[in-house]
Amino acid sequence: MEAPHNPAPVNSLDLTVTSPEQMGDLGRRLAKLLRPGDLVMLSGELGAGKTTLTRGLGEGLGVRGAVTSPTFVIARVHPSLSDGPPLVHVDAYRLGGGLDEMEDLDLDVSLPESVIVVEWGDGKVEELSDERLRIAIDRTVGDTTDEVREVRLTGVGERWSEADLTLLTA
Ligand SMILES: Nc1ncnc2c1ncn2[C@@H]1O[C@H](COP(=O)(O)OP(=O)(O)OP(=O)(O)O)[C@@H](O)[C@H]1O
Ligand SMILES: [Mg+2]
Repeated sequence: MEAPHNPAPVNSLDLTVTSPEQMGDLGRRLAKLLRPGDLVMLSGELGAGKTTLTRGLGEGLGVRGAVTSPTFVIARVHPSLSDGPPLVHVDAYRLGGGLDEMEDLDLDVSLPESVIVVEWGDGKVEELSDERLRIAIDRTVGDTTDEVREVRLTGVGERWSEADLTLLTA
């Protein structure tokens, strides 16, 4: 495919997170930045901290229900306890067919009115929105406590070009 003449603007930030509590804090700060219709894609190996981040995000958004790692559930809707957007938490690990399957889930919620967070969604759910915030979480090699994570946030598209990602620093 030919490269687009105007590639989508990209905005990024690198952070070091040193504990699960700090990862939760990052999620809580992220909640303040997010708007209905936003798509957040989380990547990182098993146990990197994707769900831990999402839990903090759910707390920050003030949604009902604990954000957990669903074993057999692909997507869970957490309605807002106030008048904010619901959180749709998707674990796409077992989602084979991508978006079609996601639509088949028949979530009883309007995606443009929700904040959607997808774990393991790379290559599967990009069609949901051409604007997205990617968050890649990496374990630091040689970390003696096993609690240090390098977090790279990359905002793609107009929505994210103006966003002040530095608000996410502690
Ligand atoms: N800095 C950190 N940030 C997040 N989690 C951490 C950190 N340090 C240690 N942990 C621990 O790592 C684990 C992360 O688990 P979590 O379920 O969030 O990972 P995940 O990326 O969602 O994994 P999976 O791919 O299985 O869904 C938790 O047990 C958490 O306490
Ligand atoms: Mg998880």
